[in-house]
Amino acid sequence: MDTSAPRPLDRPADGTPASRARALTKVYGSGASAVRALDGVDVDFATGAFTAIMGPSGSGKSTLMHLMAGLDDATSGAVHLGQTEITSLNDDALTRLRRDRVGFVFQSFNLLPMLTAEQNIVLPLDLAGRKPDKAWFDTLVATLGLQQRLTHRPSELSGGQQQRVAIARALITQPEVVFADEPTGNLDSRSGAEVLSFLRRSVRELGRTIIMVTHDPTAAAYADRVLLLADGRIAGDIADPTPESVLAGLEGLRVLEAPAGTPTGATPVVQAPAGGLR
Ligand SMILES: Nc1ncnc2c1ncn2[C@@H]1O[C@H](COP(=O)(O)OP(=O)(O)OP(=O)(O)O)[C@@H](O)[C@H]1O
Ligand SMILES: [Mg+2]
Repeated sequence: MDTSAPRPLDRPADGTPASRARALTKVYGSGASAVRALDGVDVDFATGAFTAIMGPSGSGKSTLMHLMAGLDDATSGAVHLGQTEITSLNDDALTRLRRDRVGFVFQSFNLLPMLTAEQNIVLPLDLAGRKPDKAWFDTLVATLGLQQRLTHRPSELSGGQQQRVAIARALITQPEVVFADEPTGNLDSRSGAEVLSFLRRSVRELGRTIIMVTHDPTAAAYADRVLLLADGRIAGDIADPTPESVLAGLEGLRVLEAPAGTPTGATPVVQAPAGGLR
């Protein structure tokens, strides 16, 4: 039993956000081909909250998550994880922070095919030389309904089961923040609903903090809050979202984007033809 791991319901007493960005800017490339993927983003993500990030394709959602999680460098601005300013950490410290303090869930599961579900789940602890907390492992496996699947390899699991294994793996280290980039993007609606219900429960009942990118207003409505991004900037912030309020927010973005020739700074904007791109 690893007694050094934080208990699930630990929260900072002083209300420090789990994650925050200040004047966060990311420019890919340089010169004429430079793309300003994030343009001065200021945002706080509350501890113990489930936040969804939405916005058009190319609006900077994945870039924001990657910078908040220490997976990529900012061009300027600051990112804090709890009290730690991660934009100033060296590579070794960043590697440790990613390993010990954040979890990731991707659209494409990213499980190792030769390992069983159980081995995939505990892999981050193995890599860190830590033993799983048996009670926490059992809680995750039971809550995610994986008891009967632990000896199966990913190829023997459905998409929804694989994604639940990936979520258990992201949570096994009890990270301060879990970043999920379109975690239901490859799932049918029933598996997607199961995964979203679990993410919400892990926030409400297990005290986790989750930040999730999604394109689906119904998925976003599982969250406590929806942040809208457009052209690398915060374009909206919806509390206690419903599918209807999220759709209305997204419609509002379309209205903002509509006028042709709108100045957009350094960000190249592909204007959707009438009827949209998809
Ligand atoms: N590694 C990269 N090199 C160059 N440009 C990049 C890179 N990654 C992203 N971009 C550009 O930055 C902008 C934001 O990309 P990002 O992936 O954050 O968008 P997104 O909102 O996640 O889109 P999607 O909904 O399609 O996943 C886009 O214009 C994209 O082309
Ligand atoms: Mg993306």
